[in-house]
Order: sequence, then structure tokens, then C-alpha cells
Amino acid sequence: MARHLLEIDDLTPSELRAVVERCRVEASTLQRPLDGHGVACVFLKPSARTRNSTEMAVVQLGGHPVYITDAEVGIDRRESAEDVARTLACYHSAICARVFDHTHLERMSAVVDIPVINLLSDAAHPLQAIADVLTLLDEFGVSNAEAPLAGRVVTYVGDANNVTRSLFLAAGMLGAEVRLATPAGYGFDPVDLDRIRAAGIEPVIGERPSDVVPGSDAVYTDTWTSMGQEAEREQRLRDFEGWTVDDAMVASAGAGAIFLHCLPAHRGEEASDDALDGDRSRIWTQAGHRLSAARGALAWLVSEG
Ligand code: CP
Ligand code: NVA
Repeated sequence: MARHLLEIDDLTPSELRAVVERCRVEASTLQRPLDGHGVACVFLKPSARTRNSTEMAVVQLGGHPVYITDAEVGIDRRESAEDVARTLACYHSAICARVFDHTHLERMSAVVDIPVINLLSDAAHPLQAIADVLTLLDEFGVSNAEAPLAGRVVTYVGDANNVTRSLFLAAGMLGAEVRLATPAGYGFDPVDLDRIRAAGIEPVIGERPSDVVPGSDAVYTDTWTSMGQEAEREQRLRDFEGWTVDDAMVASAGAGAIFLHCLPAHRGEEASDDALDGDRSRIWTQAGHRLSAARGALAWLVSEG
């Protein structure tokens, strides 16, 4: 059966390390496992980084990406999620999809024998998390082969969302300590925490950034209002007031700490300009690594997974 990547813990820790190694292979030395093959790229939400990095990864692996929007597939309106997946599997060697509802990915992956890869759902953003750990490894090096991020501390401040879940799984499975500070009501729910703990990771939870930021190697944030939550935006702006990550907060982590954000940034909301554009920011390294992550994960899933 094909292997899927709906969330980071679909991989074992050793498989995640193998995928990360595959991502670090130079583009110029690539095998082309998708030579002559198509990859369906389904986007039910907007995307800049994910669409471009996924399409270019397919091209660099020798394949042909087909960009598909809801207008073509109409998941569960024009056709069931299962029948969309079965249709795409007639022509393609992988299905990559950005959806609102994570269960659409689960239903699609259950009925096809080609990899289904999550390009962001309400629950997870695994290719972003792989790009994030590539950025951390670039910055801090490999601690040891079994736990490449051992000794590193990754702290997320803001809304515990799809990006946070995947980040904590990826960084934690590579050995990092993960810490979280959110306003009341915006932390992980018990199911999320159980899943993270099931991967052998015990997040450190603080009530305020000052509880968890000092001693961190990386301070990460993302939007307070994810795609699909637009109706809650005004309430969220009120609830997150005072939670903006700025350069002073990142500096309080300690010497050598870096700032991370998956982007797009809402400047002046979850992050200030001085955090995004300052010397500690590695946001463009992260964005660049989205291509390495898509390439490595796709190559591993279609040829070794
Ligand atoms: N980080 C990220 O997924 O960006 P896009 O929404 O632009 O793809
Ligand atoms: N948490 C954000 C990430 C965007 C890349 C969202 O889901 O909209």
C-alpha cells in the first residue's frame, strides 16, 4: 500500500529523519522519480508558498503538476471525496491537497494506492513543519544522528493551530524540547496533547510568553486567524491583544535565538515588523525550504515510502 503524509506522525522518527535527509539532497544531484508522471495539486484555499514549492518540486523530480481548484472537483458537492481521489489516481502518481476539513484527506487516502500528501488542513501542515526543521538544522547543526535537534528548544507563541501541531511533532520527534504559550482558550485541546504525547513528546506549557521564551533557540508564531476562521477574526483580535511577537521578545530568548513564521504574516498582529525583518528572523530561509521539503517528501513517498 502507498504511504501517505497527512501529519508528521504518519512517519516513524527514523522515517522522518530519512525524509529530512532526502530534503537536504541538492537539487542538481536529484534522481527524477516522477519522470513522465503527473501529480494532482488540489487547492481549496489560497496559497503562495505551498502551491509554488509543490509545483516546482514536481517539475524538479521530472513530473508534471496539475493545479486543481474546487471549481473542478467540488469535493462532496459535485462528487464525493472518495470519487475525487479515485478519479485523480487514474492519471497521477500522487495527490497533494490543501483542504479545510482534514477528514477529506483521510477519506481520500483510504481509497487510493498512491500517496496523498497534506498541503494544509484545519488540523496539520506537515510540509511546513519539515521546512521548519530544515531551517533549524541549518541554523544549529545536527546534534546527533538519532536526535538531530537534541538540546534545542522551540517555542511557539500565539494560536495553537495546524502549524503548531505539525511543528511540535516534527521538532519533538527530532529531539527538540517544544514549548507553548497561548491566551486562555487558544491552546491545544486534550486530543492534540494526547497525540503529541503519543509521539514521546512532552510540551512545556506556559501561561505567558515570559514563562517559556527565555532559554529558547527559536521563537515561532503564526496568524491568530487561520483560513476558515474569518468569522472569528474580530473576537480573536481582542483575545490576542498584547500577544504580538516582537524583536525584544525574541531577544529575551537569549543570544543566538532566531524568529520563525510560516507566512503569510499579518504585520503588527501576531508579529511586528522588527521581528519579521530583524537580524534574528529566518522567515525567508523557511520559505525557501518549502521547496526542499516538498521535493524530499514527494521523492521519499513515491520511491521509498
Ligand atoms: N506557509 C504557507 O503554507 O504559505 P501559503 O499559504 O502561501 O502556501
Ligand atoms: N494557520 C494558517 C497557516 C497558513 C499557511 C492557516 O491555516 O491559515
